[in-house]
Amino acid sequence: MKKVFVLVLVITLLAGGLQAQKRGNNKGSRSVPSSMVNGKSDEAGALSIKDIRQLPPPVAGMESTLKAALEQRRTIRTIREEEMPIDLVSSLLWSAYGINREEQNLRVVPSAVNVQEFDIYLFDRQGIYLYDAQKNILKMVLEGDHRAEISGQKHFAQAPVSVVIVANYDRMTVFKDESVRDFYAAVDCGYVSQNIYLFCASAKLATVACGAINRDELTKMMGIKNGKPMLAHPVGFGE
Ligand SMILES: Cc1cc2nc3c(=O)[nH]c(=O)nc-3n(C[C@H](O)[C@H](O)[C@H](O)COP(=O)(O)O)c2cc1C
Repeated sequence: MKKVFVLVLVITLLAGGLQAQKRGNNKGSRSVPSSMVNGKSDEAGALSIKDIRQLPPPVAGMESTLKAALEQRRTIRTIREEEMPIDLVSSLLWSAYGINREEQNLRVVPSAVNVQEFDIYLFDRQGIYLYDAQKNILKMVLEGDHRAEISGQKHFAQAPVSVVIVANYDRMTVFKDESVRDFYAAVDCGYVSQNIYLFCASAKLATVACGAINRDELTKMMGIKNGKPMLAHPVGFGE
C-alpha cells in the first residue's frame, strides 16, 4: 500500500514538472511571470525593470488595405499632444517588431541571418519601456517623461509616444566586422521604420522617421552597453 502511494506521488510530481516545463517553453504566452516584476534585470542589459504593463491584443487600426496604407504613407511632423489609446500603442509596437510566427519566434520584419538585433523602446509621459513582443508587455526601464530628450526636434515633446529603435550589437556577433554590423543594422532598421509608417497610415496616425536624434545621450540615459539607437518615430494624432 505504502509502495503504491509513493509511486502515485512520484508520477504526480513528474507530471507537474513536465507541465511547468511546457508552460515555460510556450513563447506565445501572454501571462506575466511574477518573477519579472520589480527590480529584475531585463534581457537587453539596460536598466532595472520597475514596472510591467500588459498590452491588449494588437488588432486596433489594422483595417486598411495594403493599397490604401501605401497610398497614405507619408511623413507628418505636426503631432497633437492628445493621449494615444493603449490598443493603438499595442498595434503600433506589433507592426514595428511583433512576432507573427510564434512557433519559430519569427517577426513581422526580416533581419539578416535572422539575428533579430533590435530592442524597441516606447517613450511616453510615464517613462521609457522595453517592448517584449513574446509576452506582449511593456517593461519600464526608466521612470519619468524623457520624450523631449530624444531629439531637439519639436515633434518629440509634443507626440504622446515615441518609438526608439535600438540595435543590440550583442546579437550581431555573427558579423565579424563593425562596418558589416553597422550596415545590416541600418538595412534591417528600414523595415521596422516602414512598418511603423504603414501602420500609422492605416490607423490615421501621424509619424516621422527621425535620424537626427541625441544618440550619445540616449545611449547613456537608457543604459545601452553594446548597441546603437538607430531611428526614432514620434507617433500620435495629426492636426
Ligand atoms: C533614415 C531617415 C531619417 C530621417 N530623419 C528625419 C529627421 O531627423 N527629421 C525629420 O523631420 N525627418 C526625417 N526623415 C523624414 C524625411 O525627411 C522624409 O521621409 C522625406 O522628406 C520624404 O517625405 P515622405 O516621408 O512624406 O515621403 C527621415 C527619413 C529617413 C528615411
